[in-house]
Amino acid sequence: MKISIFGTGYVGLVTGACLADVGHHVLCMDVDQEKVDKLRDGIVPIYEPGLETIIQHTTEAGRLTFSTDTEEAVNHGEIQFIAVGTPPDEDGSADLQYVVSVARTIGRHMSDYKVVIDKSTVPVGTGDKVKAAVQSELDHRGVELPFDVVSNPEFLKEGAAVADFMKPDRIIIGTDSERPRALLREVYYPFNRSHDRTIFMDIRSAELTKYAANAMLATKISFMNEVSNLAERLGADVEDVRRGIGSDPRIGYHFIYPGCGYGGSCFPKDVKALARTARDCDYPAHLLNAVEQVNEAQKHVLFDKVSHYFRGELSGRTIALWGLSFKPNTDDMREAPSRTLMEQLWQAGARVQAFDPEAMEETQRLYGDEAGLQLCGTKEQALKGADALVVCTEWKEFRSPDFAQVAAALASPVVFDGRNIYAPEMVTRHGLTYYAIGRGCNQ
Ligand code: UGA
Repeated sequence: MKISIFGTGYVGLVTGACLADVGHHVLCMDVDQEKVDKLRDGIVPIYEPGLETIIQHTTEAGRLTFSTDTEEAVNHGEIQFIAVGTPPDEDGSADLQYVVSVARTIGRHMSDYKVVIDKSTVPVGTGDKVKAAVQSELDHRGVELPFDVVSNPEFLKEGAAVADFMKPDRIIIGTDSERPRALLREVYYPFNRSHDRTIFMDIRSAELTKYAANAMLATKISFMNEVSNLAERLGADVEDVRRGIGSDPRIGYHFIYPGCGYGGSCFPKDVKALARTARDCDYPAHLLNAVEQVNEAQKHVLFDKVSHYFRGELSGRTIALWGLSFKPNTDDMREAPSRTLMEQLWQAGARVQAFDPEAMEETQRLYGDEAGLQLCGTKEQALKGADALVVCTEWKEFRSPDFAQVAAALASPVVFDGRNIYAPEMVTRHGLTYYAIGRGCNQ
């Protein structure tokens, strides 16, 4: 099938590449000429396992093309995905100007039936706005053309996006008419062959499903972080508690890992946006607000531990930091807990020697001018001359370091583990003091 995708950000690119991989003819449109040029050469601006290979081979096969030409994009596909950004406004609500502008573009250039699909995470009610935007352009042109609006949110995890797209848990399709149902069944048929994972519903329910899923996951994390703070104060070990409750299938093991707070481009933004939507309809979303507050507080926990250990005297100290991205297998630093920590450390007069397997360039871009930051080529280099080690992201290569070497390299042999990736005795055996999250019995 012929498919157009507006926006070559994370969602648009993964969607475009994966749809082309299964045989569709996909045109990805972006206003950024430089980005489009690079993509045409197979240079992918984001780090996502497997994505570059798919883009290269589907481009070579001629099934994936890139363009900056909006008219060409509208004419290309009967299926039009909107996958542009919805950055949060200052008040936390999603800024829909790019989504609406694409909808207008479609209305301006279309000459036959189109299915206009919201793939971006958009507030409940956006479907109506998209419909109105397309229609107003058609009215302006004085033409009558049929189109349908669909909400088809994505549930990709950064670092596993290609795998998630290829083997989805569910495909949510919100629509109020039959014609787009049939077309989208065809689009997604290659992903549904073994069993049909499509769940059809109305547009508003599909829009809310996306927010509810992320908010539920964020709630699980904030809940566990709260339990971890309690465990610390009560002399309990949250890791045992986690296993103890996760074994109940009604709770489950997923997303109950305590840590130094959730980050990324989705949870923080989506929880805030849903809370904002709730305020807009006069509903006091106590739980959603608390989820966000607990997470904000959790991002300060590592600094508090470090500061407490050094009795508030951080000026002139050097902290080795392993892990900068908001989670492993990505170079994304958006809302990463490492940023809160670094900024607090600098504020307190400390220096940071940091290493991350993928996010070094991004850190350079964000904090290149920061005098208190030294970016190191390896995790070992980050330790040299440092007072203490803090682990912020659970990259695989941090999981079993040579602790004797760590102890020898640090001036004060102490490790602060923001992700509970070590067994305490594994660390303390080497004469290191170990602080983790919610492991009161070991601290
Ligand atoms: C999240 C959702 O998991 C995806 O389903 C969704 O499609 C995506 O947002 C989106 O809306 O686009 P993502 O932000 O890539 O995906 O990352 P996650 O793997 O969910 O992790 C988010 C944050 O939660 C990370 O900072 C991670 O360290 C933290 N986390 C996760 C915990 O602290 N504890 C856990 O048990 C799990």
